[in-house]
Amino acid sequence: MPATLELKNAVRQEGLRKFQKVNDILARYDYDATNLVAILQKVQAEYRYLPQDILTYVATALGRSPSEVFGVATFYSQFSLEPKGKYEIKLCDGTACHVRRSIPVLQAIREKLKLAPGEKTTRDLRFSVETVSCLGACGLAPVVVINEKVYPQMTPESIVRVIDEINKAEDNEQ
Ligand code: FES
Repeated sequence: MPATLELKNAVRQEGLRKFQKVNDILARYDYDATNLVAILQKVQAEYRYLPQDILTYVATALGRSPSEVFGVATFYSQFSLEPKGKYEIKLCDGTACHVRRSIPVLQAIREKLKLAPGEKTTRDLRFSVETVSCLGACGLAPVVVINEKVYPQMTPESIVRVIDEINKAEDNEQ
């Protein structure tokens, strides 16, 4: 086989592998654009965010314009166009949590994770952090949720311990 053809095939195979997961999701929903939100939810669950090239691919596969699909992806706050960490830290900054000093907890998290101003996700994609509005657990303020697990009455010291424990468990797994 000529070298250029070999290269083209290798690129094609790589592309197919990359889009295999999204193809499976699209097939599960019969390539039906009325299921767009559900499809994007599954894609996000798979990739932990909505990569731009995947959104364009989904649009093409569903026969819709990329701007329509991007419009839906940006309309719903549940979707993220930026990579998220394996551990999604959500810090409540609702009134009760704010009054009980959620901001020093946020500062401790950002410092611990060495996040530059404006950065939400660590470079190794292990953690991402965001503030959210009231989680409905004001009696436990200030509250942090990490991948659905609730951490009540956090302080800068206790959240650093939680992050240390996660890091330790992750490092032991490798
Ligand atoms: S304000 Fe944080 S849980 Fe309600």
